[in-house]
Amino acid sequence: MPARAPCPARIGKYEIQRALGKGAVGTVYLARDGFSGQDIALKVIDPGFFKHPEFREIYRPQFEIEASLAGKLDHPHIVSIYDAVLTDDAGHIVMEYVPGGNLAPYVSGRKLLPVDSAVEVVFKCCGALDYAFRHGIVHRDIKPANIMVGEGTDIKIGDFGAAYLRHGDASQTIRLGTPSYMSPEQIEERSARHRRSAMRPGPSSRSISRTSAGCAPRSSRCPTAKSTRR
Ligand SMILES: Nc1ncnc2c1ncn2[C@@H]1O[C@H](COP(=O)(O)OP(=O)(O)O)[C@@H](O)[C@H]1O
Ligand SMILES: [Mg+2]
Repeated sequence: MPARAPCPARIGKYEIQRALGKGAVGTVYLARDGFSGQDIALKVIDPGFFKHPEFREIYRPQFEIEASLAGKLDHPHIVSIYDAVLTDDAGHIVMEYVPGGNLAPYVSGRKLLPVDSAVEVVFKCCGALDYAFRHGIVHRDIKPANIMVGEGTDIKIGDFGAAYLRHGDASQTIRLGTPSYMSPEQIEERSARHRRSAMRPGPSSRSISRTSAGCAPRSSRCPTAKSTRR
């Protein structure tokens, strides 16, 4: 894994404020548009990653897919992507900034969501995934860290970095996702092509199994494991 780059002061017209999160290939920063003054989130590929042996085959194509969604999805529970840049040695995605962090802190200990809030989150996720599916996009990596929190129980699904485009390149068969949140079909590489994968509440309920019960859905300690396992 390449060393993380130090936080840049600015990228293009965007003034970097602070890091919001780190992910597979880069860092997400809170930044300000120097012209409009608007706060945005900027997902930036760490420069060292361009030399990663799997960058060309895996990470770059997936980044291109996420970047290609700029301006395409307009839904209250999906993080809007405004713009993207990808060259031979730099890349970033400009997104709507969602100020409340992600749902990961609410999956253990005393911060578990009340059941009614968890159900509301599932409901909103299902609507968002259905909308994305109708636009030909299967997210493939629904989990608490990829569900951003606005105000209260207002949530927005982010990180389409593992997405599958139903009408895209037919050779896109890379197995991506987070194992403990993947459906059996996805692990067997059947999920993304099948209508049920996005229409059913499975991926969201796995995340909610964590937010309401505090354990991974496939864990033997989890009281909801029986109902989510197939
Ligand atoms: N639009 C956003 N607004 C606020 N925070 C964000 C936003 N996008 C990502 N983050 C934060 O950065 C983390 C990593 O972003 P993510 O898109 O999931 O990257 P990766 O593809 O590397 O997993 C998220 O879990 C979240 O905490
Ligand atoms: Mg992520």
